[in-house]
Amino acid sequence: MNKHLLFVANWKMNMVFNDAVSFVRSHKQGLETRTSQASCSVVICPSLHSIYAVKQELKNTSVHVGAQNCSEHPSGNFTGDVSATSVSQAGASYIIIGHSERRQHHHETDQAIAAKCQQVLQNNLTPIVCIGETLQERAAGRTLDILEQQLAPVLEVIKQNAPESENRLVFAYEPVWSIGTGQIPTTADINTVFTFLVEHIGTVQPRERFALLYGGSVGPDTVADLCGPPELDGFLVGGASLDFQTFEKIIDYALSNQL
Ligand code: PGA
Repeated sequence: MNKHLLFVANWKMNMVFNDAVSFVRSHKQGLETRTSQASCSVVICPSLHSIYAVKQELKNTSVHVGAQNCSEHPSGNFTGDVSATSVSQAGASYIIIGHSERRQHHHETDQAIAAKCQQVLQNNLTPIVCIGETLQERAAGRTLDILEQQLAPVLEVIKQNAPESENRLVFAYEPVWSIGTGQIPTTADINTVFTFLVEHIGTVQPRERFALLYGGSVGPDTVADLCGPPELDGFLVGGASLDFQTFEKIIDYALSNQL
């Protein structure tokens, strides 16, 4: 049986409102052609303020919309923050949490990310939990320790808030040194990490209830080298998702080669 592959476009703070809407207006047919296949899902994650309009454009398609972040609180006096409930009502069904850029620039801790995960699950949304080591941590041979540390509070939350929906939870391994650099890990490196993740996450969720993505410099030039790991369920794509032709090359290669 074909794997069900998941492709997440993380647009970060690119694509202003008008560009985000016109991207999905122009390419919804192309996206729908792929997501109408039983073996493929696509999630577009624009800036928070564009979610509603992007969802409106995509409402008669099977393409999903996701947020890049949400608050760790359900509501209250948190100026500038946006709750998971609000994001859900705007049309998002996925939320990226723990991206390394948020860990780095906003000092998000593993505990705060776990609290966000709780908000995501309580709103019946699907978390896309990002984890990954820095270059220094990798050089010190600490990759798996770091991943374990980042995951611990999130797995605790998952254990206590067993998701009701049939959707698979999503975990994205994104080595920090690979994001936006053009450098990628070897298949052997990814396999080591994924074997660890399957076992570790498997203590709280059965394997068929979570997807494992790779993220970091995924593009048409790297996709063939990244398609090896047997446990890989798809990609989290940053820069290469901003151009439709580039994004579709990644999706088509992975679909036709079944990763
Ligand atoms: P990149 O970003 O594909 O541009 O390396 C990936 C990410 O940060 O999610």
